[in-house]
Amino acid sequence: MRLAVYGSRPDGHANVVLDLFGADAGHEFVGLLDDWPENAERTIGGLRVIGGIAELARLATEEIEGVVLGFGAASGRLAVLAAIEAAGLALPTLVHPTAFVAPSATLAPGAQVMPQASVGPHAQVGRGVLVNTGATLDHDVVVGDGSVIDPGAVLTGRVRIGSEVEVGSGASLIPDSVVGDGATVGAGAVVVRPVEAGATVVGVPARPLAG
Ligand SMILES: CC(C)(COP(=O)(O)OP(=O)(O)OC[C@H]1O[C@@H](n2cnc3c(N)ncnc32)[C@H](O)[C@@H]1OP(=O)(O)O)[C@@H](O)C(=O)NCCC(=O)NCCS
Repeated sequence: MRLAVYGSRPDGHANVVLDLFGADAGHEFVGLLDDWPENAERTIGGLRVIGGIAELARLATEEIEGVVLGFGAASGRLAVLAAIEAAGLALPTLVHPTAFVAPSATLAPGAQVMPQASVGPHAQVGRGVLVNTGATLDHDVVVGDGSVIDPGAVLTGRVRIGSEVEVGSGASLIPDSVVGDGATVGAGAVVVRPVEAGATVVGVPARPLAG
């Protein structure tokens, strides 16, 4: 399948995707997508920016069959996913060979499970979710569409994460924790109470960031 990576940052997630899932892993990446005019000339690994959201319909008929998200932010992910799907493009699911995904877990289109990450029994991972390096989703965890679980975060049993949530690196969420849509859990936080939609929480135990 001819794929494009949405994102073009040379030291960001796009380059990680190309390194881990490129030609050596059987995927054919043919270009980059980026909506920032100042990035229009960017290239990574010989691939150049071939367009942005506005060109997806044309690219779908001429150049590409699917798109892989190549950025690590949660904010804005749902809009990009919707545009990709509206253009009739595929959202391949990527699982690194060193990751563990339980047979009973489900990964929606566009989910990415990076090296050494773990997705436990009966977990449900939504569309376009990034489970980054070494993150752990234990049994029965539910992660909503467009969320990002940063490196080393630990989501214990039955944790429920809304959509477009970022769980920061090394954060821990005790069993049955609930995090609302659009919330952010800071790096290293320990979540012991529900996190409201749109809130940012930090610390041990996690509390809303003032301001
Ligand atoms: C929580 C977070 C989103 C806040 O970002 P922000 O809104 O830009 O906040 P600021 O950096 O302005 O910091 C605001 C205050 O919160 C504190 N703070 C920020 N992040 C914190 C964290 N994770 N834990 C505890 N305190 C934190 C800062 O020290 C600062 O305190 P001060 O006002 O007393 O100086 C961010 O710091 C964070 O942890 N993001 C996760 C990043 C990550 O893990 N990325 C992985 C990419 S692969």
